[in-house]
Amino acid sequence: MYAAFRSIGAYVPPKVLSNNDLTKMVDTSDEWITKRTGIKERHIAEDETTSDMGVKAATKALKRTAIDKSEIDLIVCATISPDYFCMPSTATIIADKLGLPNVMAFDISAACTGFIYALSIAKAYIEAGIKKNVLIIGAERLSKIIDYSDRATCILFGDGAGAAIISATDNKKEAILDIHTGSDGSYAELLMTPNGGSGSAHDSIRAESAGVFMQMRGNETFKIAVKTLTSDVKDILAKNSIKASEISHFIPHQANYRIIKAVGDVLEMTEEQVVLTVAKYGNTSSASIPMAINDIYESKKLQPNEMMLLDAFGGGLTWGSALVPFSPK
Ligand code: ACO
Repeated sequence: MYAAFRSIGAYVPPKVLSNNDLTKMVDTSDEWITKRTGIKERHIAEDETTSDMGVKAATKALKRTAIDKSEIDLIVCATISPDYFCMPSTATIIADKLGLPNVMAFDISAACTGFIYALSIAKAYIEAGIKKNVLIIGAERLSKIIDYSDRATCILFGDGAGAAIISATDNKKEAILDIHTGSDGSYAELLMTPNGGSGSAHDSIRAESAGVFMQMRGNETFKIAVKTLTSDVKDILAKNSIKASEISHFIPHQANYRIIKAVGDVLEMTEEQVVLTVAKYGNTSSASIPMAINDIYESKKLQPNEMMLLDAFGGGLTWGSALVPFSPK
């Protein structure tokens, strides 16, 4: 059995937080944010939780496929902003809200690489013959873990969700070709939420709320991101004897326009190949890649059998790339 990428859906909460809005909150400017990141605005959830947004994205993905909801036998939710920190998992809450009792459901934490990690899990379960139809979700309510007095992070992140359905097929032409994944925990401190877990510096989690917000050493992360993403993509293309020119859509994690441009330039990708949503959504971590795929799907740029190259880098540090033909059904 092979794993095929069957369907995509996404959801963005309606409230927009513009660069100008942020200038009223921290010492920053639209010019600085635009020049350094390419971001113009991001969406912020008001009442909706991560699972609410995940359900809306999943419902869209389910509507766009012949696969019935009842056929879903695994749900994997990638998130760093779960509804609840330890338990229950956001995936089980999503399963319940979708009306899918008894389904195996769990979360994974790989920050911005979360969707590619989830894709690799779906592929592995399907190829092993254990599951047939896997719903993978990247959903984030990052605004809940952002410190809106820290200009180094608050200008970057937004909320949203994306979902995809990955199904078993015996047609090799439809199959996800390859997925590379990696991590290096020695850089864990570059991007972290220091408190709230068992590694917390404080004896009582409840006594100390400071430190549950995300912190990032952006400049150091930037350099590693460009280097790792470039070598990772070159590697997956070479291993599969595919030229960059054969990729229909290069869909990198949307963290920063400058990172995307640097990687795209090294690979000699044309503007038409590179998918860019960072200006309107900011960095939505694990949701960014499925939200970008949904964007090209809804604007009818994504056609059946076209090859997508996914590429992500995030906290952990983690990274991953994937060669995925779009095989709707
Ligand atoms: N507005 C105005 N000035 C600012 C702001 C701001 N919002 N933020 C920082 N500055 C200042 C700094 O204080 C610094 O001032 P100084 O020169 O006087 O010291 C100056 O701007 C430059 O700061 P840098 O941090 O060096 O800026 P840089 O060009 O690196 O851009 C950014 C920062 C956008 C965060 C960039 O480093 C980046 O995108 N990093 C990678 C992010 C990433 O890919 N993360 C992984 C995925 S996220 C995840 O996994 C959750």
